[in-house]
Amino acid sequence: MVMKTNTNVSHTKFSFSRVSHLVKPYTTTLVIVLLLIIIGGAFGTISPFLIQKIVDDALPASNMNLLFNLVLGLAGISIFTTIVSVVQSYISTSIGQRIMHDLRVKLYEHLQSLSLSFFSSTRTGEIQARITSDISKMQSLLTNTATDFARHVTAIITTTIAMLLLDWRIAIVSILIIPLLVLVNQRVAKIRERIMHDQQERVADLSSNITESLSAGGFILARTMGRARHLVHMFRKNSEDLSKLETRSNTAGQWEFAIIFLFLDMLPAFTFFGGGILLGMGYKVSIGTMVAFVALQEQLLWPLLEVFETRIEFGKVRAILTRVFSYLDMPPEITERENPLTLHKNEFEKGITFENVSFSYDRESVSLLKNISFTIPAGKYTALVGATGSGKSTIGNLIARLYDTDEGRVLFDGIDVKDLSFNSISELLGIVTQDPFLLNASIEENLLFAKPDATQEEIANILQVAQLKTLITSLPEGLKTQVGERGYQFSGGERQRLCIARTLLRQPTILLLDEATSALDAETQKAFTAALSSVSDGMTVISIAHRLSTVRYADQIIVLENGKVEEIGTHDNLISLGGRYAKMVFN
Ligand SMILES: Nc1ncnc2c1ncn2[C@@H]1O[C@H](COP(=O)(O)OP(=O)(O)OP(=O)(O)O)[C@@H](O)[C@H]1O
Ligand SMILES: [Mg+2]
Repeated sequence: MVMKTNTNVSHTKFSFSRVSHLVKPYTTTLVIVLLLIIIGGAFGTISPFLIQKIVDDALPASNMNLLFNLVLGLAGISIFTTIVSVVQSYISTSIGQRIMHDLRVKLYEHLQSLSLSFFSSTRTGEIQARITSDISKMQSLLTNTATDFARHVTAIITTTIAMLLLDWRIAIVSILIIPLLVLVNQRVAKIRERIMHDQQERVADLSSNITESLSAGGFILARTMGRARHLVHMFRKNSEDLSKLETRSNTAGQWEFAIIFLFLDMLPAFTFFGGGILLGMGYKVSIGTMVAFVALQEQLLWPLLEVFETRIEFGKVRAILTRVFSYLDMPPEITERENPLTLHKNEFEKGITFENVSFSYDRESVSLLKNISFTIPAGKYTALVGATGSGKSTIGNLIARLYDTDEGRVLFDGIDVKDLSFNSISELLGIVTQDPFLLNASIEENLLFAKPDATQEEIANILQVAQLKTLITSLPEGLKTQVGERGYQFSGGERQRLCIARTLLRQPTILLLDEATSALDAETQKAFTAALSSVSDGMTVISIAHRLSTVRYADQIIVLENGKVEEIGTHDNLISLGGRYAKMVFN
């Protein structure tokens, strides 16, 4: 159940201008955040100067008054910087959330505009991961990383200035360690980036494994084929790989970092040593200066390490953004033209025409439908029959414009379906697909999805037509009964009838039933056909069916074979013709 990842990230370029576009609406607030960061950072570096004064002046002279003022200053600075940092993180988190909200909605909206081919070729788990986990991960990464970065850079700059002001000679000792840090970090960052890439692939595998195998359908498949253990085995392997990678990425460069920490730990010693040497050489270095230095070193080196860390975090953001952008960059293949035409329900009076239509799902292969032409007259009952895989459902897909033809046109009353508005098509056409799909909600909610303003009376009528009335009155919760995941709490035939009811509720002018009653027993099927004919007056009905008894009374039967229209006529015509259809009937 694990297929290859479908990530078309290669041709998507990550660019800062694109990111800045996302951030643009919040520029003013971001400037405020930046100012708060700078203010906090600048105030933070005042403390060591106060410490210097305490050690050099207040303590030796036992000047309680001065000491009190300096300590008050230290406390005041701490309180002030704490408040500034809380306010700043509150603002930046809320901006981050808003940016992510914008992006999430934009992505969802864009995905809605893509064509069916995208969804039939992409793993559900992957799409889910993009919209939910990817984007929320990005929120924390983006806001925390960006603000941390700004904070640390500010700290580094202000601290360096403070050090130089205190004593430039000792400052040099502290600054000398920086190149070493950079070097070690470069190495570790490279290792980590590679591991992270593998990690993300594994996470995608794992999550699509979960969404596929832990669904009702996947469970039935695994259980009935005795493959559950195999799936657990696969999952264990996936999960193990992931945890190994996770461990490796967290422990990568442990030794290198240990060495750095060792240096950091010894830095105060070096500082006092350096200060001592300077004193011995007759230079004037106060004890307070040295103590202040030790305090400042902490403030310089930790942010430095953090800045290196943010580099890795930015790498993650970049990877996620690239994936999200790659989705946003997928052009919707099927688009509404500018100023599309509308065709209202009551205006449809001629019919649907296929005019020299050729089509294949992937452009390279030989055509599935080969230059076919036929007309489905309005207000009549047309049946579409043919061997399995002959392209019947595909014709339905073209009528609904879920795909566009490669050649030729599909016309509604002479209007190319490409010129019609999406609204017109969905208003005219009601489809019951071969693979019934129900939302995991109550029966009523499933019906109201099709027509939110349907009255109780309309619903009751439709349920009657779809032969569901007895069933629903027998349910203790009636219409409020939950249908379960994909409708799995109902039988196949019940599911089909619910789908029929849902489509009929919209009172479509054209009704396309794709094997919509295949799971019904002959009696229920008959009752449904009779009930349908009472409400389908003037409705154009297109029925795709294998069970030929159901198409007998069609006004027109189209027989499809090898992507071509083999014959067209009524049941009696075709029987007397003695061709393909007659063979199908008598077999
Ligand atoms: N989304 C798709 N992507 C690629 N190929 C597809 C897709 N859907 C169908 N096909 C291929 O197109 C061919 C025709 O499929 P179609 O669903 O139209 O057949 P059908 O006549 O409805 O068959 P059945 O009676 O079994 O429902 C099949 O060979 C199938 O493999
Ligand atoms: Mg089909």
